[in-house]
Amino acid sequence: MQLHLSTWQEVEAYLQRSRGIVIPIGSTEQHGPNGLIGTDAICAEVFAREVGRAADAMVGPTVNVGMAQHHLGFAGSVTLRPSTLIAVIRDMVASLGRHGFARFFFLNGHGGNVATVTAAFSEIYAEASLQAGLPNGLDLRCTIRNWWEAPSAKRLSRELFAGEEGSHATPSEVSVTYFAYPEAAKSVGEMTPRVAPFGGFTDAADYRRRFPDGRIGSNPALATAAHGKTIVDAVVPELVDAYRSFLAA
Ligand code: NI
Repeated sequence: MQLHLSTWQEVEAYLQRSRGIVIPIGSTEQHGPNGLIGTDAICAEVFAREVGRAADAMVGPTVNVGMAQHHLGFAGSVTLRPSTLIAVIRDMVASLGRHGFARFFFLNGHGGNVATVTAAFSEIYAEASLQAGLPNGLDLRCTIRNWWEAPSAKRLSRELFAGEEGSHATPSEVSVTYFAYPEAAKSVGEMTPRVAPFGGFTDAADYRRRFPDGRIGSNPALATAAHGKTIVDAVVPELVDAYRSFLAA
C-alpha cells in the first residue's frame, strides 16, 4: 500500500490494523558510465514497494535526495547537508507520528546516508526523552536497513559478479534499476579499467580526481535486468522478515 496512492480515509483504516511504515530513502547522484543518477532512490523504492505488497505495509514517500556531496563533481548529482537531512527525517517522522505511525522502517539504498539517518534517530529519541513524551504519547521506534546487506544480496553479488561488485556504481544496484526501468538501461560496452580502483575520498574534487568515471571498485558493465530480477526476488522475503521482526520487537 503506497501512501501517495491512498486517500486519507484509507490511511486512517490502515492505522487501525498497523502502526508500521516503510520509508524508502536513497540519493540522487552519479553512478558511473552506465548507472542512472537515481539508482539509490530507485532501488530503495523497488524493494520498499515489494515489501509493502508482501507484508501489507504502508510505504511512505521516497526520500530521494541524500548525502551526496562527494558526487557533486559529476553533472546531475544533488546533495543535502547532513543537518538538512536530519531535519527532513525528523519532520517526516513527527508528521507521520502525529497520525499514529510509530514504527519507521527506513529502507536504504545509499551507504552514505547511514550515519546521518542514525543521527536523526538520535535527535528524535532525544526530543522524546527531553519532552517527557511526544504529544500523542506514542513510543516511536526507527530503524534503517540497507538492502545490499541482506544475506541473499551478498550471496548473489558473489555468485553473479565475483570480485567485481565494488562499493559504488555496483553491478547489483545497476541491475536492480535496469529491472525496474528496462527502457533506461544503457549499453556502453567494456569499461577502462574493467574494474575501477578502490579507495577513500574527502570532497567532490578529491573524489573526481581519484575516481574519474565515478565508479569505486566495481564493474557495472556486468549489470542486466535479469540479474536485477534475481536479486529482487531473493532479497524481498528477507526484508519482509526484517520488517515483521521490527514490528514485533
Ligand atoms: Ni548507489
